Amino acid sequence: MKDQKINNGHSENFFGDYRDFWWNQAFLDLTAQRLELRRHKTMLDVGCGNGHWTRIMASFIDKNAEITAVDSDARWFTENKELKEHFSKTGISFNLSEGNAQNLPFPDNSFDFVTCQTLLIHVPEPQKAINEMKRVLKRGGTLLCVEPNNIVQSLTKTSLTKNDSIEETLDHIKYRLIIEKGKKNMGRGDNSLGDLLPGMFALEDLRNIEVRLSDKAIAMYPPYDNEEQLATLKQWMNGSSWKSNTQKDIDFFSAAGEEFMQFYFEYQEKYANRADHVMGALQREQYHAAGGSLMYLVSGTK
Ligand SMILES: C[S@@+](CC[C@H](N)C(=O)[O-])C[C@H]1O[C@@H](n2cnc3c(N)ncnc32)[C@H](O)[C@@H]1O
Repeated sequence: MKDQKINNGHSENFFGDYRDFWWNQAFLDLTAQRLELRRHKTMLDVGCGNGHWTRIMASFIDKNAEITAVDSDARWFTENKELKEHFSKTGISFNLSEGNAQNLPFPDNSFDFVTCQTLLIHVPEPQKAINEMKRVLKRGGTLLCVEPNNIVQSLTKTSLTKNDSIEETLDHIKYRLIIEKGKKNMGRGDNSLGDLLPGMFALEDLRNIEVRLSDKAIAMYPPYDNEEQLATLKQWMNGSSWKSNTQKDIDFFSAAGEEFMQFYFEYQEKYANRADHVMGALQREQYHAAGGSLMYLVSGTK
């Protein structure tokens, strides 16, 4: 792998992010068709971040629709020139403002379509957020939440882990489970909440609950030279843009409970340089994986 590949990856621009490769267009088209999104004239995207999902969903609703997006983080709800420009070019009305998913700043029955992507996994009380999203939804409107199970990735194989012992695999799963537990204990959400969404929708008396799985997998294999592989490499080099720089695994372990700290230190010693192995294998073009994940799309009607 040449370093140049990473630098020449998908453009640096605002939408040139790894998230642009999260979906297969044909799958989105089919989902939009099945949910009849075109009939909706008002949409709210909760926890919009820099607007990838907002932009995708906006392309499926009525051409003269009004789009609203909220986020609780000032980084995202303050002036977002590129997103505004994107919508002004398409002639779609767009409003971006501050909003907390657990206490949305809108009256009841405001929107035809309410949606979120990888928001609820970060919210301390996701049931309250779903209740709020339902409250601001008009009767007959559609709620669509897209949330993953993130623990399954600890079980999927790569060329580097294919010969791991059962104990090693269990160590990696245990490590991720403790991080998830710590994150939950810190009130920062449940990374695998996707599994629970249909039941949570049912608790809010939403009707026509339907569950789908994204058909997207970003397979990595040498020479890693298609657009989505390059964007993935870039993402791996840079780390997640959503991650707080100050939050370290040790903090999550500590929040999970004192009893896990010994495992933390043993794990660090046993698997030191694991990340370097991945980078080294990529450089030598010896890393490959099918890149499967579990991303649920759960929809319901008010
Ligand atoms: C992983 S990002 C996803 C962003 C965007 N939905 C996307 O898929 O590209 C999670 C977003 O949720 C926002 N967020 C977290 N908790 C929130 C809350 N309680 N209310 C509103 N937004 C929240 C974060 O600031 C961040 O922008």
